[in-house]
Amino acid sequence: METTPTPASPVTDDPDRIIIFDTTLRDGEQSPGISLDQGEKVEIAEQLARLGVDVIEAGFPIASQGDFESVQAIARAVQGPVICGLSRTARKDIDRCWEAIEPAARHRIHVFIATSETHMVHKLRMTPDQVKAETAAAVAHARGYTDDVEFSPEDASRSDFDFMCEVLQIAVDNGATTLNIPDTVGFGVPEEYAKRLHDVRDRVTGDYVISTHCHNDLGLAVANSLAAVQTGARQVECSINGIGERAGNAALEEVVMALRTRSDYYGGVDTGIRSEELARTSRLVSRLTGYPVQYNKAVVGRNAFAHESGIHQHGVLTERSTYEIMDPAAVGQGESKIVLGKHSGRHAFADTLKKMGYDLHGDALNQVFTRFKELADRKVELSESDLEALVAEEMGDTVRYAYQLVSIDAHGGSSSTPVATVVVDRDGTKLEATAEGDGMVDAACQAIRSATGIDGVLTDYTVTSVTGGVDALADVALRFEADGMSMPGRGLSTDVVEASARAFLNAMNRIVRVRDSGEDPTAVDRPGSLR
Ligand code: KIV
Ligand code: ZN
Repeated sequence: METTPTPASPVTDDPDRIIIFDTTLRDGEQSPGISLDQGEKVEIAEQLARLGVDVIEAGFPIASQGDFESVQAIARAVQGPVICGLSRTARKDIDRCWEAIEPAARHRIHVFIATSETHMVHKLRMTPDQVKAETAAAVAHARGYTDDVEFSPEDASRSDFDFMCEVLQIAVDNGATTLNIPDTVGFGVPEEYAKRLHDVRDRVTGDYVISTHCHNDLGLAVANSLAAVQTGARQVECSINGIGERAGNAALEEVVMALRTRSDYYGGVDTGIRSEELARTSRLVSRLTGYPVQYNKAVVGRNAFAHESGIHQHGVLTERSTYEIMDPAAVGQGESKIVLGKHSGRHAFADTLKKMGYDLHGDALNQVFTRFKELADRKVELSESDLEALVAEEMGDTVRYAYQLVSIDAHGGSSSTPVATVVVDRDGTKLEATAEGDGMVDAACQAIRSATGIDGVLTDYTVTSVTGGVDALADVALRFEADGMSMPGRGLSTDVVEASARAFLNAMNRIVRVRDSGEDPTAVDRPGSLR
C-alpha cells in the first residue's frame, strides 16, 4: 500500500506553537441529545476553519453511514485545517476512516485503544499483549494511508504507566506522529496529569507531538490541559463551548484565551486562533446543537463582559481594565456591557441614557433614576426598550406633577368584586381612597378619581408589553377627558394595574397643570387632538 504524503504541518516546527485540535464534531457530537446533520456539520467545520483551528476531528466514520458521509463532505468542502477521522484498531474501521478523509488536502487518522485495566477487562476483553498487537497493526495500517497518524491510549490517566508507555512506544515505532494522552473520564488533576505527560516524553523515544485530551467530569478539563501545555504538550484537543461526552471536553475558547491572556505565565506559547471569531463560533454551535451557553460562561457567555454593580460599572466606564482582563472585541463580544439592574449606580444609568440619546441632569435625572430603582427592584434586568419607555413616562413632561402615586393595592378574581385602594401625594399630603370597579384596572381608576376629586372619561386605553417574558414591563397608554381637555397618559410597571394607575394619574396631572396655569384649555389638548 502506498503512503499518501501529507504536507508537513508548518505549526509543528515552531516550539511555541500550540496545535488546536478541535473535536466539536466528534467528541462534542457524542454529547447526549446532540445529533447534527451533514449540512450542519459542514457549516460548523467551515466556521472552525475561519476560526483558525489546526485540526478538525470531523467524526467517527465507522459509527454510521451518516457520520461517514459528513466526514467525507467536510473533507471535500473545508479548506485549511487538517481533516481527521477517528478509528478503532480494526482494519475495516481504518479503511472506512481513510475513505472518508481521503478527499481532504491534509488528513489524519486518529487510532485509539484502551490501556486501562478496567477497559481491557470489561470492555475490550483483551489481554495486554493483544492490545499491544492491535496497536502495532493498526498504526502501521493507518500509516499505509497517510503519514499523519495520531494514537490515543484510551483512559490513559487510569492506565498502568509502564504498560501505557510500552503501548505508546509501539505506536511511535509503527509510525504514529502524535501521541494523545486522554483523560477519558476526567479523573486527572492538574499536577498529576501534567506529570504523566512529562514522564511519557521522558520514557517514549521518537519524533512525535504530545497531545492532551481532557474531560470535564471534575470541572478540571481546561486546568488539566493548561498544566499539560506547561509541561510540554504541543497539541490541545478541545471543543467549542466545551461540549463532549458527559460533562464535556476542555472548552477551546477558554484554553485559547488563557494561553493568550497569560502568555507571560505560559512562556509565550500561542495558537493560530483568530479569537475575534470565538463568540460567533460559540453561537453557531449552540444554535445547531441546541445546547445553550450558560450566561456566565467564560469568554463567550453573554455576561462574560457584563457589569451590574455600581462600583464595577463606574470602574469599567472610567477604565475598562479595572474589571476586565480581556478586550470583549478580541473575542467577538463587541463592547463591555453595562447591565442596568438594582445594583447599578447613577453614573452608569446616566451614561446608558446618554448613549441612547437622553442627556439628563439634575432633577430630571433624579426623577427617572428614582423610578428606575423602583422598577429594578422588581425586574431582574432592564433592557434599552424598558429604559426608553421609562424615560417617555417620566420625561413626557419635565415639569413636576401635582399628584404622585404613593401606593396601590388591588384585589380581584372570578368570585369577588374587584377593589382597589390608592394613596396619592399632593404637595406632601397623602390622599387615600378605595373603590370598586368592573375589573382591577377600573377599580384603580375609580379610586384615583375619588382621591383626586377629578372626574372625567377614560378613552383609548392600550397596553403593550415592552419586552418579552413573564417579567416584561407593561406600558399603558390612554387618554383622559376632563374639564374640556383630552390629555394623554403613559404608565409603566411590571404590574399592569399599577401601570394603568400611573398612566391615569399622568393624564390627570397634565389636566391639572393646564387648569392651574390658567392656560386656555382649548389651545391645548382638546378631545381628539394628537398631542
Ligand atoms: O476521551 C477519550 O478517550 C476519547 C478518545 C477517543 C481520544 O475521546
Ligand atoms: Zn474524549
